[in-house]
Amino acid sequence: MAAAVSTKSSSAGNGGGRQSGGKVGERYADDKLKHDIRISNMTAAKKLADAIRTSLGPRGMDKMMVSEKNDVTITNDGATILSKMKATHPAAKMLVELSKSQDIVAGDGTTSVAVLCGALLNKCIALLARGVHPTIISDSLALACDEACRLTETFGIPVNINDREQLINAATTSLGSKVVAQYSDVLAPIAVDCVRKIFDESRPDLVDLRDVRCVRKQGGTIDDTELTEGIVFDQKTAKGAGAGIHTVEDAKIALIQFCISPPKTDMENNVIVSDYTQMDRILKEERNYVIGLIKKIKATGCNVLLIQKSILRDAVTELGMHYLQKAKIMVIKDVERDEIEFIAKTLKLQPVAHPEQLTPEKLGKAKLAKEVVCGKSKVVKVTGIENMGKTVSVIVRGSNQLVLDEADRSLHDALCVIRCLAHKQFLITGGGSAEIELSVRLGQWARTLSGMESVCVKAFAEALEVIPYTLAENAGLNPIEIVTELRNKHAMLGNVHEGINVKKGTVSDMRKENVLQPLLVTTSALSLATECARMILKIDDICPVR
Ligand SMILES: Nc1ncnc2c1ncn2[C@@H]1O[C@H](COP(=O)(O)OP(=O)(O)OP(=O)(O)O)[C@@H](O)[C@H]1O
Ligand SMILES: [Mg+2]
Repeated sequence: MAAAVSTKSSSAGNGGGRQSGGKVGERYADDKLKHDIRISNMTAAKKLADAIRTSLGPRGMDKMMVSEKNDVTITNDGATILSKMKATHPAAKMLVELSKSQDIVAGDGTTSVAVLCGALLNKCIALLARGVHPTIISDSLALACDEACRLTETFGIPVNINDREQLINAATTSLGSKVVAQYSDVLAPIAVDCVRKIFDESRPDLVDLRDVRCVRKQGGTIDDTELTEGIVFDQKTAKGAGAGIHTVEDAKIALIQFCISPPKTDMENNVIVSDYTQMDRILKEERNYVIGLIKKIKATGCNVLLIQKSILRDAVTELGMHYLQKAKIMVIKDVERDEIEFIAKTLKLQPVAHPEQLTPEKLGKAKLAKEVVCGKSKVVKVTGIENMGKTVSVIVRGSNQLVLDEADRSLHDALCVIRCLAHKQFLITGGGSAEIELSVRLGQWARTLSGMESVCVKAFAEALEVIPYTLAENAGLNPIEIVTELRNKHAMLGNVHEGINVKKGTVSDMRKENVLQPLLVTTSALSLATECARMILKIDDICPVR
């Protein structure tokens, strides 16, 4: 803060000096200070990138994050690690945001993007030390990034979205670096089938992952994770005093947003009833009101009732439950407000906000609604839905909460990978092969440029080597040896797909190893990392504001 203030005062002082005559050779600002701020920003961001470098790749380490309340999270996901870390430096926070934006755009590659940005910043520091002006570095980085993205597309492998095998390979690569890697053979096909179900040929770029619902249930192992034809409700069926209704065939499902309980006044008030007959009347009225509602529901033919959660009053009272049970209506309560859209889309029903508007055509139809045991608790599965919407439900299982959460996050990454492929139907090979190929080609291109631009593009090309270097380092190999071997192979024509084989500790063709990842993940990581590095580079002052 002191730095910022002094920067201001020094420039103001110089300006004033100039007005009153000015001296030859006088500088307007204290460059040293700006340089220091720039370097401090870059170092802070670089340190954070270094912290997560060890979790890159299939042999990367995982992190255990412990909150103040002692909540533990074990994860390998870059975006999760960074967002849970308590970064206080504003520039370090930019790196967190960078990882988040990669998560939104591509879903995978959130560690790579941070590591790349760190390497770029490292190169920037070196270039600054050599006296290159930040604006020139920034412009050259943008130039190099554009060329890198263009080059990446030249060695992309086209993929058909109907080629299930190929998609599973891509999902497996993404899952291969997670804590739950040993279950990739279960999770990868599920991720692929999910996206293929919700995929719309006419709008390939609009795969909305909100159409995939993951219900997490503790108990069993990840092997028990399953894709359900239909919809799964997290909660068990509600029941009153009796046994409750647990199975309904030929289900006619209504989704109501009103409550089956006596109405309340808008304001909090008390009515004191002293007379017994009056009390009796109130109870009778209440009963009549509830029975009236249930009769209306029953009249539509409804036999499965979904009730939205209400914060104002009970969504359904004991009395209501009792009569619903008598009417043989299965009840699922506590449906969240944000689930309504998904349910309505899946079951092709219309949510009803007022009892008068409940009509038979607003109901959804299904062959079976059944409560089943799932681990420690129960879920309700609705199957055989009549003209079901394009959505899927997955029940994710895990032996404990930590594994369950990580399985869910990893499945999300895999789903994102397939979404990327639906959007842009190209794969590239992983294992550092794409990065080293880019590095070699950009290095060649840099030689055709002149002046500072050439130096900066060369630095960009060298920064890309951080990915194979880190992959090798994390796999316990000799990084310098491996990267040199890779570089030599890629310098020869026709070795575009040579990458690090972490299993054997050698360099081999990644297509044979089936290490494939979407092109979009890499290009997005490149452009986002460059953008972030440029942004940090261009900041020369930190000003505290009110
Ligand atoms: N079997 C494998 N052999 C060699 N390299 C691999 C293999 N599987 C993945 N990789 C490489 O590991 C890198 C991805 O690692 P990882 O999944 O840990 O990080 P990320 O995808 O950047 O981030 P996150 O998955 O946390 O969002 C990619 O460069 C990929 O090419
Ligand atoms: Mg990954």
